[in-house]
Amino acid sequence: MARTCLAVVLAAGESTRMKSSKSKVLHPVGNLPMITHVIRAARDAEVDAVAVVVGRDADAVTAAAADAGLPVSSWFQKERLGTAHAVLAARDAIAEGYDDVLVIFADTPLVTPAALSQARQSLSDGADVAVIGFHTQTPDGYGRLIEGDGDLLAIREHRDASTSELAITFCNGGLMAVSGAKALELLDSVQNDNVKKEYYLTDIVEIARKRGGHAVAVEASAEELIGINTRVELAQIEALWQSRKRREMMLAGVSMQAPETVFLSHDTVIEADVTIEPNVIIGPGVIIREGATIHAFSHLEGASVDAGCSVGPFARLRPGAELQSGSKVGNFCEVKNAVIGQGAKVNHLSYVGDARVGARANLGAGTITCNYDGVNKHHTDIGEGAFIGSNSSLVAPISIGDEAYVASGSVVTKDVPAEALAFGRATQTNKDGLATMLRRRSMEEKKRRQNSGQ
Ligand code: UD1
Ligand code: CA
Repeated sequence: MARTCLAVVLAAGESTRMKSSKSKVLHPVGNLPMITHVIRAARDAEVDAVAVVVGRDADAVTAAAADAGLPVSSWFQKERLGTAHAVLAARDAIAEGYDDVLVIFADTPLVTPAALSQARQSLSDGADVAVIGFHTQTPDGYGRLIEGDGDLLAIREHRDASTSELAITFCNGGLMAVSGAKALELLDSVQNDNVKKEYYLTDIVEIARKRGGHAVAVEASAEELIGINTRVELAQIEALWQSRKRREMMLAGVSMQAPETVFLSHDTVIEADVTIEPNVIIGPGVIIREGATIHAFSHLEGASVDAGCSVGPFARLRPGAELQSGSKVGNFCEVKNAVIGQGAKVNHLSYVGDARVGARANLGAGTITCNYDGVNKHHTDIGEGAFIGSNSSLVAPISIGDEAYVASGSVVTKDVPAEALAFGRATQTNKDGLATMLRRRSMEEKKRRQNSGQ
């Protein structure tokens, strides 16, 4: 029988240590707000609903929480009176009645569904409270988990701990699962009789025991329980998240010569046998199919790259770039909102925006789609097998027919029919001997100036 579960996600009461104009929990990790990571982990631990306790930026925080597709209610904590007080801001949600209540901090984005599921499993095995702990050699600042006979006896906050308790290295990660039937009575019994005069969530362990119940600690890795308080920690978490994601990709068949220089996003999809060379940045919304190669120093965002394509080095694919199989976008090219057809080549120094490039077409070096007139964007259509000579400007809206040819250096302002050759440049004339004459005239001019002291 599946147990129902509410996740209470604490996103209020943050300090000012991020020095940010927006809520800490909105800062991204892998280009996804940290609170969304946390709620996705909850979703994967089969949580049914989320109650998010907010402080500042309530609307944006609630929207980021809703991204994972679970029903979300939001609750405002006016004063920061402690973690138990924060959970009680969601009293009405808890009162709806769930088998399990998970309390999660929104600033621990690396938490895994496995840790949350394990805590829930302890409830179904009979515990009233299951706390997620971790071992560390540097326990300063954390609450210590005091165990006896396999049970969790108490959590002692660092500030309130005795010397012998301070020596304990098993710490409270802050996240816990509480029996839904008992959650409110336990939380309502918490007092603020401690150094900080706060209502500590951690006190419910001893309260549950006094009432004849029992609590346990489950262990997770220290890494997944790291909380973010400053931008230094944000960068550390980003680095951990990136190495997790790269490892996942490499184990699934992606080659990276210098993985530490490749940056991925939360939704990056890369199929097997893709090679990613060093110094590649992949923003949100990128999918790269089997066997493609992304050469060094490329930047991709909102783009799809089909099987066998080659991108870069030094290429930029912007949103809406769609490279069909076997096509190539080479060095110093930018592609935006454009389909590059099968086997087509955009190899050097080109800008292709708001366009379709037909299969097998070849764009010479320096081809530019002039898509913007300063007010509106216009479309360029290039037919299959068309050949665009180097340094051509295609002034949109414009269409180049199948198998057509555009002479190098053309400024193309009229549609080119299929199989036609377009010359959009001044006709060249050669004047015999004129170069020598010109050079002589210039030399004489130079001499005259020198003589007159100019
Ligand atoms: C808490 C735990 C501690 C644990 C540590 C792990 C308690 C009393 N202590 O300590 O045992 O080792 O986390 O990181 O729970 N919050 C609110 N409203 C409040 C207070 C806090 O929303 O009134 C939120 C904070 O934004 C934060 C989380 O709750 O996300 C934890 O609060 P914080 O003050 O950082 O607790 P710690 O002292 O770190
Ligand atoms: Ca903290």
